[in-house]
Amino acid sequence: MSVVVVGSANLDLVYRVERIPSPGETVLALGSDSAPGGKGNNQVIAAARAGAPSAFVVALGRDAAAERLIASLADAGVDLRARRVGAPTGTAIITVDDGAENAIVVDSGANGMLDGLDQAERDLVAAADVLLLQLETPLATVAEAAAVAHAAGTTVVLNAAPIRSLPTALLGDVDVLVVNEHEAAHLAAELSGEPVHDASGEDLAGVLSRLGLAVIVTLGAQGAVVRVPDEPPAHVAGLRVQAVDTTGAGDTFCGALVAELDRRRGPAERPGRTAGARPDLGTLVRAAEFATVAAALSVQRAGAVPSIPTLEEIHDFHSAS
Ligand code: RIB
Repeated sequence: MSVVVVGSANLDLVYRVERIPSPGETVLALGSDSAPGGKGNNQVIAAARAGAPSAFVVALGRDAAAERLIASLADAGVDLRARRVGAPTGTAIITVDDGAENAIVVDSGANGMLDGLDQAERDLVAAADVLLLQLETPLATVAEAAAVAHAAGTTVVLNAAPIRSLPTALLGDVDVLVVNEHEAAHLAAELSGEPVHDASGEDLAGVLSRLGLAVIVTLGAQGAVVRVPDEPPAHVAGLRVQAVDTTGAGDTFCGALVAELDRRRGPAERPGRTAGARPDLGTLVRAAEFATVAAALSVQRAGAVPSIPTLEEIHDFHSAS
């Protein structure tokens, strides 16, 4: 059993503010910090901390930020397949307000140089049980990884964040799409060619599942909707917690989700597996419940990587709630 993440890593520069500045406005920070982040990096650490043997294909610079990210990934037990490239490691400027909301600007740097996969990386992806992708790296590489995995029978999970236009061919290689409501509305509008206003998470999941893939729309404190084509929607309840910082909560959800899918898929399915490996509705719902607990734990702590819970913490919270 194993998870592979192909994606981004950033050093997050985090500023705590009373409120996120409006356009043209300057505000004074209440404090600041830096910590490992980036959607791919957060997701692979979430998968590893949730108990899945996890590998990470990423591009990093040759700088101090990269050394910090490498140390943090080693600490989480991630099998790191890093390319060191001639661009600075990615950075993100993050403002977090008193209401735990955030606004993020990413300078991609080295992430933009994750250009295509080499043979060793293709072999790694093909041998994985679950591949997890996001959209902070070149789309051609995301599509290539999905195609290699799909042909090998690896379950392909795409977190379509941040919002970008997607090639339709990419979605044909995806088994499970994970999006929040904003991302879901954007994709639904793009696919239907019309703006989508005031649609519920359930409606959006219904529209997107017509692509023939499973869809999970995350709804923050309201939980998530899980939809598999030709089946009724299922709801996963949210958990009541006191949020201090939602940065990385979606990444924690995705990483924990794939760790649980990997566990539930099991070694028995490996021999002779065929192309495409979409989990059934029941498996997706159980995995989304597990991921919801992990995300609820993460929002109670500051930062992206520092807030990601361990398997033990997830189990303890599960049995106490
Ligand atoms: O999803 C949160 C992440 O988005 C941050 O860690 C930041 O680096 C950006 O990639």
